Amino acid sequence: MKTQVIQVYHPIDPCAFNEPGRALREGQIVAFPTETVYGLGASALLPEAVLTIFRLKGRPADNPLIVHLASKEDVQHAAVQIPPVFHVLYDAFSPGPVTYVMLRNTDTIPDEVCRLSTVAVRFPSQVAARALIEAAGVPIVAPSANISGKPSPTRATHVLQDFDGKIPYVIDDGSCEVGVESTVLDILSDPIRILRPGFVTAEMIYERTGLRVVSWHEQPEDGEKDFPQAPGMKYRHYAPSARVIIVMPRADETLDKTFADTLEMHQIEKPAIFTGDRTWRALTERLGGDTADTLLPYTYDGEHDIKQATHSLFDALRTFDDQNVEAIFAEGFSEPEAAGYMDRLKRAATGVAEEESINSLRQILFLCTGNTCRSPIAEALFNDRKINGWKAVSAGLAAYPGMLISPRSAEVLHEWGIDADTHRSQPIDDHLMETTDLVVTMTDAHRDILARLYPDRKDDIVSYSVFTKDGRDIDDPYGFSLASYRSTRDRIQEGLDHLLEELRKRY
Ligand code: TXA
Ligand code: MG
Repeated sequence: MKTQVIQVYHPIDPCAFNEPGRALREGQIVAFPTETVYGLGASALLPEAVLTIFRLKGRPADNPLIVHLASKEDVQHAAVQIPPVFHVLYDAFSPGPVTYVMLRNTDTIPDEVCRLSTVAVRFPSQVAARALIEAAGVPIVAPSANISGKPSPTRATHVLQDFDGKIPYVIDDGSCEVGVESTVLDILSDPIRILRPGFVTAEMIYERTGLRVVSWHEQPEDGEKDFPQAPGMKYRHYAPSARVIIVMPRADETLDKTFADTLEMHQIEKPAIFTGDRTWRALTERLGGDTADTLLPYTYDGEHDIKQATHSLFDALRTFDDQNVEAIFAEGFSEPEAAGYMDRLKRAATGVAEEESINSLRQILFLCTGNTCRSPIAEALFNDRKINGWKAVSAGLAAYPGMLISPRSAEVLHEWGIDADTHRSQPIDDHLMETTDLVVTMTDAHRDILARLYPDRKDDIVSYSVFTKDGRDIDDPYGFSLASYRSTRDRIQEGLDHLLEELRKRY
């Protein structure tokens, strides 16, 4: 099959979309741009066309597709019993990079799209996408137009890399403005949950609508629910072939210095660098000609700019892959607005280059589930004691990167004059394990899970229960009163002396 590339000219002539629109309606596949990434489109009403999408992408059948609509009035074709909050969110964010999970209209949307009682619906703002969906006159399913496991495409050329000769049409309207996939919101749950982080963050939603939304992991522990609810989140997406090392900015240091230190630490022969052009220039000046010449840069305009970095991330990963680089050093962001960017980058990465790995202090890591309540409290209390030769960090077994400490945890620390406001959550990963001497988990269950994941490190993983008076777990205060948070804080504090004894014994 020859793939026809349809170039978009502005202002848009709707007639230009008649042919691909008809093709979609008749069951063919058309790749098209959206404001987030390019999508691989098919009619949501035709099970055969939907199955073709799964086959082309090599996508697991339990990972459902998003239904794309051109106008709000069409929502009833896809969903039923629309919750009132949909209208509030629609007015604030749609058309745009947000996807809403609602009850599926099973009369119209077949099981092939989604083997669940729910359906994910999105209204793209990209003009060519809207013109195409209108021309097709049917709801369009569109996953990102990449083979499963590859970075999502943000240019038509990326789509062709994966699907040239395999689909009849690609619509080319240049690069995608946002650069990462839409934020997926479960609007049936109360509070609303972010199932997949994206450009639109919890903070933006609160600012524009006053609605509080939580991330998928932020709920009281009851085993099963620790796992993400967007079925697609359990797969390791966005992975380039090269190793990815995230360079997190440090408080009292310029980013080019952090890049230089991280490069020095890793000693890679042909390192690739992804950062702003200003940082890149400072880095080359710092390193000097010969060393700088060994680096392969991909830069965006400016410096430490989340929007620009997000826009360019996937193109950078794909470009470096084409160049067969061994390792990619990519700029990280700790700001909450960077949640979507950091999610994709972390998924692509094998390690986090951080302050911790460069200095020589011994490291204790406190571990809970979401890394927003218990473990940051323990970290702050430990660090507050300023133990010679030691520093504490924290992480979560199912943490989403970049979340703030929970407000009540911050409050009970403030009561003791301790400030943990700069805390950002992070998931436990290989790199953190490597740089940590001792892991202290909040419960025995956390210990058992981690010890199964890292059997070689079994002896370096202990549960806080061995340090508490009653020998019991530090339970999750999430969702309980301030008094519960105080008691969590007090129980951790009580156990600290025993923990310090243990450190003296061991090291
Ligand atoms: O920005 C985007 O959303 C892009 C563009 C093309 O629109 N599309 C996209 O689709 O990223 P895809 O298929 O790559 O990702 C869809 C995500 C997956 O994580 C999937 O599990 C989740 O949405 N999803 C789909 N239906 C769902 C449902 N009923 N409940 C929960 N999650 C759902
Ligand atoms: Mg995808």
